[in-house]
Amino acid sequence: MTIPVFVLNGPNLNMLGTREPGIYGGQTLADIERDCVAAGRKLGIAVDFRQTNHEGVLVDWIQEAATKAAGIVINPGAYTHTSVALQDAIRAAKLPVIEVHLSNIFAREAFRHHSYVSPVAAGIICGLGPVGYRLALEALAEAQKPAGKAKR
Ligand code: DQA
Repeated sequence: MTIPVFVLNGPNLNMLGTREPGIYGGQTLADIERDCVAAGRKLGIAVDFRQTNHEGVLVDWIQEAATKAAGIVINPGAYTHTSVALQDAIRAAKLPVIEVHLSNIFAREAFRHHSYVSPVAAGIICGLGPVGYRLALEALAEAQKPAGKAKR
């Protein structure tokens, strides 16, 4: 039985496809989930893909990951820029976490330039669209190898 990687998505990401397609592209979250599961299959990783609009649910899932997952890929949506609770949960989970954003948050409004998640992430991928999720899974797969390095 393979230990899964949790791919967690925060608020409004369920609206992908219709939400500001000029920024986030035309793919739906279901499309991204399908790509993640397919990428995971190639990498030998079981992907547990979830989305919620609620900050506390993300905290619950990160706590769950601490005992059930090998790592986390997270797009925290707007909670990236506001949530001390997410930072605390990730710090406590002691798992490799890759932060992903579809858009380049540094090329957008100033309030998106700060992330509470980045200081506790093993790595950050942003601005590459949905492919960022696949790259994050590849990074975690690499980290699981004996000489892998995506720790923090
Ligand atoms: C986002 C960027 C955030 O600033 C924004 O609030 C989102 C999506 C992204 O994937 O580019 O909801 O995380």
